[in-house]
Amino acid sequence: MKLLVTGGAGFIGSTYVRQVLDNHPEDEIVNLDALTYAGNPANVRGLEGDPRHRLVRGDIADAELVDELVQSVDAVVNFAAETHVDRSLLDPGSFLRANVQGVYVLLDAVRRHGKRLLQVSTDEVYGDITPGKHSRETDPVETRSPYSAAKAGGELFCKSFFVSFGTDVLITRGSNTIGPRQYPEKMIPLFITNALRDQPLPVYGDGMQIRDWLYSEDHAAAIDLVLRKGRSGEIYNVGAGNEYPNIEVVRTLLAHLGKPADLIAYVPDRPGHDRRYAMNTDKIRDELGWEPTRTFGMTLHETIDWYVGNQEWWAAIRDGSSDFNDYYQKQYGWRLEAAGQSAG
Ligand code: DAU
Repeated sequence: MKLLVTGGAGFIGSTYVRQVLDNHPEDEIVNLDALTYAGNPANVRGLEGDPRHRLVRGDIADAELVDELVQSVDAVVNFAAETHVDRSLLDPGSFLRANVQGVYVLLDAVRRHGKRLLQVSTDEVYGDITPGKHSRETDPVETRSPYSAAKAGGELFCKSFFVSFGTDVLITRGSNTIGPRQYPEKMIPLFITNALRDQPLPVYGDGMQIRDWLYSEDHAAAIDLVLRKGRSGEIYNVGAGNEYPNIEVVRTLLAHLGKPADLIAYVPDRPGHDRRYAMNTDKIRDELGWEPTRTFGMTLHETIDWYVGNQEWWAAIRDGSSDFNDYYQKQYGWRLEAAGQSAG
């Protein structure tokens, strides 16, 4: 297959690009990435000499560029997105542009050229899930943050193109994903890198919020399976069933690093913070035979070990970019101060 992978220099996107090139030697990838703060050429380092991979710097909302690239491929896999909930609370407009307008531009091109689009989405579209319940693909969308609202908007456009024009679209809804090369703003990579520097770990609220943790290689494999074998117009949940309260994950993380629990700082909560996400994943398992290859312990430990072994990758972001520090001060300066700590 010839694929246009958008956002392929980001975290899950670059994992997917590497995995496809390893597993499908005949495939070719055009990797379109805007290389904004979280897209990083270092994430696809080593692929420069591979004739099957071409990195193009550009925006999915650029209709002319997208039109030209879509013509030359069989299918599009869209990882390009604004993804961080906390940033969506600071700047909702950029989420509308990337996650709705950008998806529309891709859809319009795949519709005109008769190609397939896989839209990578999120379990956050289901909203806050009461204990004991597991969201199914047929459940209503009940978004609560600007991030999840924008992701749901992109999904709804996909669905509307399938129904109205017969456009060949598929949607995956993934749970919280961790692994190598995740920008250190999400909880796990932020907390690993803070702990390695003996800086406080800012736990929001009471730390009892529940997420389902998935390894990036497993998430990428699920997306590829849906792309090649999924039924057009369908949605597939992707989750590993690793449901744990944040505070338990944070304690395990510190223990694995041999760092003290007093690095934990309880700080003022994220506004509108969803308490729990949890999905039923029978559909992808029964229909397509997907299952995660790692336990929760392996998922967390392999992630931590990657950051321990690749300090130059994350130090370049944390020390070398003003983006990281500006954001860190805005997000955590007052929160850590309220907890009697300093943001450094
Ligand atoms: O569920 C899938 C989603 O998972 C993806 O669609 C999003 O792109 C991804 O960012 C992630 O969303 P979360 O908001 O769950 O991830 P985050 O790592 O930001 O937060 C995980 C949990 O940790 C959440 O309950 C908030 C909490 N947290 C997060 C940060 C950054 C803290 O307590 N302190 C923090 O500093």
